[in-house]
Amino acid sequence: MTETRQKAWTVLRKHVSSEVLLKHCLAVEIAMRAYAGKFGGDVEYWGAVGLLHDVDFEKFPHDHPHHAREILMAEGYDDAMVIDVESHCRTWESERNQLQKTLLAVDEMTGFIIACALVRPDRSLDNLEVKSVLKKMKDKAFARAVNRDTLTGGAADMGVDFAEHLAFLTQALAMAVKQPEYQEIPLL
Ligand SMILES: [Fe+2]
Repeated sequence: MTETRQKAWTVLRKHVSSEVLLKHCLAVEIAMRAYAGKFGGDVEYWGAVGLLHDVDFEKFPHDHPHHAREILMAEGYDDAMVIDVESHCRTWESERNQLQKTLLAVDEMTGFIIACALVRPDRSLDNLEVKSVLKKMKDKAFARAVNRDTLTGGAADMGVDFAEHLAFLTQALAMAVKQPEYQEIPLL
């Protein structure tokens, strides 16, 4: 594990105890690392943004992510990290860069894909096909709290075809969950 990831994970564990939220942050980390590779970003940095994007959510659920700055600054992070984390606020007004668009596009999508895997007989991502995720998108009763337009809109803003986005994320998650870093708190 690199120093960058070790620090982000330590900071996250200090501020988040909910296993559900930790799993979410890990899934977003995986997605951000994978897309950093695709878009030529710094894999470690993009991963740290993914891990830390909800760092203030447990303590300030009604005022998230507006407390990320104080938490991250106190932990020694710089303005760039704070801004990247703050950028996933739905009401953020500035134009988002590629990292920031990606964060928004994977934030809820990763959880939806994992939910699709969990209702399979093998409870695994290995054989999850894009067409079954698309089918679940049309099933209004499934993961009803997740806004489908947010999912498709995120991919469009990022500039990736939606089916490709699903295939890319499913593969990235399926590969990552077998790695040692993701055994401490299994995502599925
Ligand atoms: Fe999130």
